Amino acid sequence: MSSFEDNYLHYGGIPLPKEVYSEGFTFLQELNLKDDDVLLVTYPRTGTTWMQQLLPLMLNGGDVTQVLTTPNWKRAPWVEIKKLSHIVEQMASPRSLVTHLPFNLMPRSLHTSKAKVIYVMRNPRDVLVSSYFFHQTTNVLDNPGTLDEFIDKFLSGRVMFGKWTDHVKSWRHAELGDRIMFITYEEMVQDLPASIRQMSDFLCCNLSEEAIQKTAEHNSFKSMIDNPFNEVPKFYLNSDKASFLRKGIAGDWKNHLNSEQLARFTSVIRKELQGESFSLPWSLE
Ligand code: A3P
Repeated sequence: MSSFEDNYLHYGGIPLPKEVYSEGFTFLQELNLKDDDVLLVTYPRTGTTWMQQLLPLMLNGGDVTQVLTTPNWKRAPWVEIKKLSHIVEQMASPRSLVTHLPFNLMPRSLHTSKAKVIYVMRNPRDVLVSSYFFHQTTNVLDNPGTLDEFIDKFLSGRVMFGKWTDHVKSWRHAELGDRIMFITYEEMVQDLPASIRQMSDFLCCNLSEEAIQKTAEHNSFKSMIDNPFNEVPKFYLNSDKASFLRKGIAGDWKNHLNSEQLARFTSVIRKELQGESFSLPWSLE
């Protein structure tokens, strides 16, 4: 399979890889989110896997046993994947849950419960580049073509989970009051202990300084690569050499986008966000 049409189905207008989402979504609206659930929200290639390790660690006081024995998709499962719904139901509280979907497709229980949300954003230029390489390593998505071609796909939303700008707008406008916290991948790369402290405060985890430092060590890029429980199941990958956790840096776009590509990309992102009441945490100059 290689074309967009062959690989994707649509849910609420959002393109999703058929291979993963073919079992439908009715169960999602029935999901009963609990008051102490934490929902991690990311657009793909924003640091989801990183947070799938960090979040349960913060919620359990820094005990690494689970991280070293359980795959990431079991520690913090995606709520929209039917195959994982039994794991979601059986998890002990407080549950770490994940979604890539926009706010309007969330179950009613997100509104009626006191569940908290952490939304992680990443500079869209790095999301683009990371996503481009990811398309080359997986066999559940369409062929990305050249980087030039992929830029057009990304900007027009012909990629999994649609346009990056729509995703950001959707969650920036989510009416969740102080139940939602926004943090960036770049902040986490720059100062992980400070980011953990900030998230732990938001979640009222009361982590000691020692637990924060230990958690940060266990979540360095190297530790994560060395942990086989962060790997993507081989079924989804093109080759054994495919690296799901690729570089783990901020600003890799500088190594890949030429000035024309950068100008085209930036102008569309800027236009899509024109008139929005929020501003992006990175300069797009
Ligand atoms: P790169 O491709 O730029 O390396 P997701 O899990 O949402 O698919 O995001 C994957 C991206 O997060 C990859 O980016 C990956 O390397 C990065 N990442 C994962 N763990 C990380 C860590 N501990 N530190 C920095 N980046 C990390």
